[in-house]
Order: sequence, then C-alpha cells, then structure tokens
Amino acid sequence: MEFHASNTPLLDWSGDALIIGLSEDALPLSGTLAELNSRVSGLLQDLIDDVEFTGKDGATAITRVGSGARFRKLGLVGLGASSAMTADTLRRAAATAARLAKKEKSASLGLSMPLVQNDPALTTQVLAEGVSLALHQDNRFKSEDKNGKKNGKAPVEHIHLLDLAGQESSLQTAQAICDGVILARELVSAPANVVTPEALAQTAQDIATAHGLELEILEQADCEALGMGAYLGVAKASDLPAKFIHLTYKPAGTPARKLAIIGKGLTFDSGGLNIKGAGSGIEMMKIDMGGAAAMLGAAKAIAQLKPNTEVHFISAAAENMISGRAMRPGDILTASNGKTIEVNNTDAEGRLTLADALVFAEKLGVDAIVDLATLTGACIIALGDDIAGLFSENEELAGAIAAAAEAAGEKFWRLPMEEKYFDGLKSIVADMKNTGPRPGGSITAALFLKQFVTSTPWVHLDVAGPVWTEKESGYNNPGGTGFGVRTLVHWVLRQEA
Ligand code: BES
Ligand code: MN
Ligand code: ZN
Repeated sequence: MEFHASNTPLLDWSGDALIIGLSEDALPLSGTLAELNSRVSGLLQDLIDDVEFTGKDGATAITRVGSGARFRKLGLVGLGASSAMTADTLRRAAATAARLAKKEKSASLGLSMPLVQNDPALTTQVLAEGVSLALHQDNRFKSEDKNGKKNGKAPVEHIHLLDLAGQESSLQTAQAICDGVILARELVSAPANVVTPEALAQTAQDIATAHGLELEILEQADCEALGMGAYLGVAKASDLPAKFIHLTYKPAGTPARKLAIIGKGLTFDSGGLNIKGAGSGIEMMKIDMGGAAAMLGAAKAIAQLKPNTEVHFISAAAENMISGRAMRPGDILTASNGKTIEVNNTDAEGRLTLADALVFAEKLGVDAIVDLATLTGACIIALGDDIAGLFSENEELAGAIAAAAEAAGEKFWRLPMEEKYFDGLKSIVADMKNTGPRPGGSITAALFLKQFVTSTPWVHLDVAGPVWTEKESGYNNPGGTGFGVRTLVHWVLRQEA
C-alpha cells in the first residue's frame, strides 16, 4: 500500500476509483463537483438521485463510469453535517472509502475530502490513518492465506489524497502511528501460546534494536531483589518465566519532560485458583495484555516520531495460571513499596502486577505516569465495549489525556476515585485486600492502584472493553483494535510544546 499526497486536482485525477467525501451541506452540487458532474455526463447527479444520497454520515454509493472517463468507478461517502465534522469523521470516512475501493477491486484510489479544521496536514494524517487501519488484514493464523493461495497483493495499492500536495511529512506521521496501532492489534489478536511474556520482551527488544532505544529486561531474580512480591505472586504458577520490561526512549537533546507509560501485560488470565468458570469469557483472556500491547505500539510510533520527551515504557509481564506453585486465595504478598496485600481473589491479578510496576515507574523520577490495563469486567458493565474508563486525581493530567484522546478519536469517560470505597478493601490481617465488593469494582481497582503511587501525577485507564472488537466498524476490523496507541502518541507529542 502506498500513499501519495497528490497535487492532482480532483478534476484531473486518473485511476481506478475516485471516491469523494460529501457533507450534507455540499448538496446540491456546486463548484468543482458540478463541473465534475458535467464531465461525466451527469452521472454524479444520477448516482445521488438513484440512491437518494443525502451526505448522511457513513452513507455510501458507487457506480461504474463509462469508457472515456479518466477513472472506472465513481464513489461517494457521506460526512454528515459539516458543522459536526471532526478529524475522526474523516478517519472513518477514509476507512469507508478504502473498504469500498477494496470491494470494487480497485488497485488505485483517488480520495477527495474536504479539509478538517482548515488544516491540510491534519487532514492528510487522518485520511491516511483511516485507510491504513481499515485495510490492515491479519491472516497470520489462516493456513490458506499463509500459503499464499488467497493472499495476493493488497487490492488497493495506490492511494492518492487529492489536493493535498506537500503533506508528505503528515503521511510519515500517519505511517508511524499506524505501525504502532497495527503492532498492538497483532499482539492482542495472537493467542496466548504465541504471545507469551517472553514474546512481549522480544517485541520490546525488536523495537529497541530497530530504533535505537534502551532496553532492560528484569528477570525473576532481579524482581525478587527489588522486592516485587505482588507481581511475582501472580507469575508464580506459570511455567513461563515472568519478564519485567523497561524500554526507554531518550531524545537527542535535553528532554522537556520525562514520562512513564505502563501496560498491564497478562498474556493469559485463567483467574488463577479463583479460576474463571464457564461463561466467564476465559477463552478471550489472551487480550489481557492489551495495555502492554498499546504501550509497545506507542513505543514503536514514538521511536519513529522522535519527540523531545523522555518516555519509559514498562510492563510487568506474566501469565496468571494454576499449579502446585500457585498463590492461594488468602495468601499475603508484600509489594516493592513495603505494603502488604491479602489476596482474597487471585483473579484480581492485574492490579498486583501494576502495583510493582507503578512503584518502579515512580522511582524513575518521571513527571507523569499513565497506566493502561484491561483491569475490570466492571468497567465494561459501566461503559460498554467502546469506551474506556479514565481515573485520576490530577486535573491537569486528566485534561491532557482527554484532549489527546479527542484528537486521536478514542473514547474515554472519567470515573470517580471515591475514597470512601476504599473501605471495601480493608483487611483484618494485611494493609489491604486486592478485591472489593462487586459494586463499583473498577473504582476499587483504581483505589487499590493509588496505594502504589505517592506524589507523581498519574492517570489510570481501564481499557478492558475497547481493546477487542467482534465487528468491523469504522477503521477497526474484527480482532484487536490497538486501542490506546493513538491517545498515548498524541499525549506524548503534545508534551513538546
Ligand atoms: N482481566 C480481567 C478483567 C477483564 C474482564 C478484562 C473481561 C477483559 C474482559 C481481570 O483480571 C479480572 O479478572 N477482573 C475481575 C476482578 C474481580 C475478581 C474483582 C473481574 O473483573 O471480574
Ligand atoms: Mn483476572
Ligand atoms: Zn486480568
């Protein structure tokens, strides 16, 4: 797939499919589009009339153009009311156009869209993101495709973004971001017998080697020396060794800021001895490293975009299993900040691994910490599959993440860190229990994490819902979504200013 920020005007483009984004208020046709209509003998207006195309967000129409035209197919994608158009409207419209071109077996696509925020750079970036993400297909585990039977070249090979000459650097930005999102998608979609803690560490190694980042992998003995009893308690039952990943991006000059991004990296969550039963979705628990996947995806993008910010990428990767070595319900663990935890439920394991990761991150002396975790089913009950929970007691950082998410087109909703609910975590024998009552389960999880951060501004993102999707929607395809990568990248890039 190749993108061109083309200086060819709409009327002069030649290729397979010309697809035009039309907002509701671009009708009736006028200006360039009226001119295009007359050049194709009124076919554009006929298409609009035939399907009663009104420019509604997500609507599509496509038709063959008679011989003699510069292109074979002419398509439309609705953008809704132009007053409501955001960057994400264009990302989704570009995805819709790309899917349409693919379905029509068009090797080249000319895409003509209005500018969003009057910004050609932003427009170019989001269009390229929408197309790349929609056309990404993951056939790694399909025997037919792997053997090259069905798997020819990408059907849409050349994408020309029309009237966007000179925006090549935005294409590169989009490429870096999509590299990261696609890495995260593939890590989440791969099963737990492929993506092990060691495989996550190897992925970090690959990023470090390719882009010149520093990498430190702490083995079990190193984690023991640091007193990471909470993390190691979770990792204990598995035959797969735990890997504590610490990947560091350092800018060439003096960094403006130092940040830490932590991802929950449970490559499989069986629940432990509080094993997940039938109907619990245990067969989906390969996704429990979705936070680590987003963290690694962000690392891959940031390493290429080279902001003037130092970023520490951290995951306490492990597998939550059962065996004779498993931590038992009721065991008491000591985390690396000295706090003791009564494990009243071994299935609340993510917060145990994050506890030691948060302590580690804070010791680095960073200006802010963001963690992403597929932490609670309760967050999915509260916000559904498409919206992640955002928890923070720092207004400025919460606002910065919310702004980055808005620009990225990812949805978060802030939930309260109601201190009183910490009562639900009180333990008779230890400093706290790891699990509270069912009501407010994602809030008590956030309050548990808070015990492991002292003063550094910190945001916790519960991404249990949006890291995976069953359906094609917008630029997402069924499988891992790469959720979180774009928000993280936008957030880090904005620190430069
Ligand atoms: N990894 C799960 C949370 C989860 C559930 C992620 C569904 C994605 C989809 C987490 O480790 C877990 O098991 N949480 C428990 C906590 C409970 C024992 C307090 C839950 O949400 O039920
Ligand atoms: Mn669990
Ligand atoms: Zn889990």
